[in-house]
Amino acid sequence: MHNTPIGIFDSGYGGLTILKEIEEKLPQYDYLYIGDNARAPYGNRSYDTVYKYTLQMVNEFFKRGCELVILACNTASAKALRTIQQNDLPLLKNDKRVLGIIRPTAEVLGSFSKTGQVGVLATVGTVQSESYILETEKFFPEVTINQLACPMWVPLVENGEHQTDGASYFVQDKLQQLFAKEKNIDTILLACTHYPLLMPLIKKHTPPKVKILSQGGLIANSLVDYLGRHKALEKKCSKNKKRSFFTTDNAQEFEKQAELFLGRKIVCNKIDI
Ligand code: DGL
Repeated sequence: MHNTPIGIFDSGYGGLTILKEIEEKLPQYDYLYIGDNARAPYGNRSYDTVYKYTLQMVNEFFKRGCELVILACNTASAKALRTIQQNDLPLLKNDKRVLGIIRPTAEVLGSFSKTGQVGVLATVGTVQSESYILETEKFFPEVTINQLACPMWVPLVENGEHQTDGASYFVQDKLQQLFAKEKNIDTILLACTHYPLLMPLIKKHTPPKVKILSQGGLIANSLVDYLGRHKALEKKCSKNKKRSFFTTDNAQEFEKQAELFLGRKIVCNKIDI
C-alpha cells in the first residue's frame, strides 16, 4: 500500500490541536504525528537546541515516508524552520517540504481586529524571535502586535494541570499583564499550539468582547489552499484515512493525554532518540 502520510510535528501534545482541525477539513489523507515529549517544552530552549531537535524529528518523518511535514509548533517554526528550509532541504535534492504555522497565521491575523491592537500569547522563544511582529507587518502594516510570553502555560498542559485553580491563577495573571500593556486589544492569538487546552480559563479571564483565536482552523484552511496549489505533492500524499502517532517519551502516557486533546482513543508508539 502506498504510504506517504502528511507529517505533523510538535514538541509535545500541542500539535494535536492543529491535527484535530486539519483532519476535520481533510479527513481523506493519512497523518503521522510525532511529539518530542521527552524533550518538551522547547519554549525556553536556545535556537541551536530547537533547530537540532527539530531537524532530527524532521528526518524521522522522512524516514517514515512523509513528503510533507508541518511544524505544528510555533517555537520550532520560529527557531528552526528557516534554517531547515534554506540549508537542510536543498541538500536532500528531492521534493520534500517542511512548512511552519507562523506565516499562514500572520497572513490572516490582522483581518480579525477592528482596533488594530492584537495580543499574541506565546512561548519565550516565539516572543523573542519577534516572528509574529515581522510577519504580520508584511500583511497588515497598520496592526500592532502586543506580545507576551507565558512560560508556565505549556508545563501546565504537558502535566495535565490545565483545569486546576493553579492554572487559573497563571492564566489570569498573564491576561492582566497583556491588557495592562494595551487596553484596546480586541483580538488575542493563542500563538502556541498547547494553549487551546486552556481556552475555558482564558475565556473566563478575558473581556467577552475580545476575540480569542486559536490556530487549528487557520492552519487547516491554509493547508487546503496549499495542497490545491501544489498538485504534484498533493498527488503523492496517501489517502487511506490512516492515523499514526509516535512519541519520544512514554507511549501509554501519550495515549492518555492525546485522548484529552482529540476526544478519542489513539494508539501510540515510542521512538528512541
Ligand atoms: N506547542 C509549541 C508552540 O506552539 C511549544 C511548546 C513548547 O514546547 O514550549 O510553541
